Amino acid sequence: MIDPVLEQTGRYLKLLEELDLRLVKVIDTHIHADHVSAMGRLRDATRCVTVMGEQSPADFVSMRVGDNEKIGIEGLSLTALHTPGHTSESYSFLMNDRVFTGDTLLIRGTGRTDFQNGDPYDQYHSLFDRLLKLPEQTLVFPAHDYKGDTVTTIGEEKAHNPRLQVGSAEEYAELMNSLNLPNPKMMDVAVPENLRLGLRMDAQARVRAHPAEDILMNWPATEFRLVDLREESERRRDGVIPGSLHMPYDKFAAFCGASGELRQVAERKPVVLYCAVGERSTLAVEIAVEAGITNVGHMPGGFRYWKTVGGPVEFYGPSIN
Ligand SMILES: [Fe+2]
Repeated sequence: MIDPVLEQTGRYLKLLEELDLRLVKVIDTHIHADHVSAMGRLRDATRCVTVMGEQSPADFVSMRVGDNEKIGIEGLSLTALHTPGHTSESYSFLMNDRVFTGDTLLIRGTGRTDFQNGDPYDQYHSLFDRLLKLPEQTLVFPAHDYKGDTVTTIGEEKAHNPRLQVGSAEEYAELMNSLNLPNPKMMDVAVPENLRLGLRMDAQARVRAHPAEDILMNWPATEFRLVDLREESERRRDGVIPGSLHMPYDKFAAFCGASGELRQVAERKPVVLYCAVGERSTLAVEIAVEAGITNVGHMPGGFRYWKTVGGPVEFYGPSIN
């Protein structure tokens, strides 16, 4: 799910149930100023992974992606495109014949560039050097449309979007800087809320916590087994804690199954789970305990915090993105 809205959470959950779908990832294209994101609520309800671009100022996001990195979802693949301009951390996501453009490219419009580190020159390049270079028949799904339209194409927007009928970045900036739009009504509420949707350290610490500092005091860890929940791409990109096992979060329920690997490991030694920032590991502890595996805890703050307290890191292979 991309750019879900808090007030619609009930509708999303009902639809997931009706269609018998499991929500595995929620992506916000940027920090929204006009609505509060449903990302946090959906994570709490479904234990999905929250995703944003690496430039996002949000405090805790389960998984961050950089420009041109891939996001895998059960056989589907989305490519993250950093398309700043509306905000400095705006991303678009390309999937085969379609692109999800957030507020960068709208239907017959483009996202305003006058707050949240917006920049019309950046946006011009995001539009003309990236999105508009996609094949003309590419379907475009923006974050929203206040008129009720849902989809357009790159070709249609090139021909009919009034904001795109400019000859240079300067001309585009002049156009954007002359809009004089009022601030969104929700802005003062939505922006601060959207910056802190994550499961923060205090909440993470309430769930069977093994602080990184404690682990390092008795390093190398022989009393328990560290298990990494991150995806292969994150491990290759950021490195791993030496000696840890790998059980990716998207298959975590299977690892907790009757003959699952986590169950087997936990029978021999206590297990300490970790992920990127501690969100997935908090949720995974709940999943393990519900499956009857009680010998499991996690490391609050995840790999990010581990690095800040000087924990050892090992790199083991070339990046796969
Ligand atoms: Fe926006």
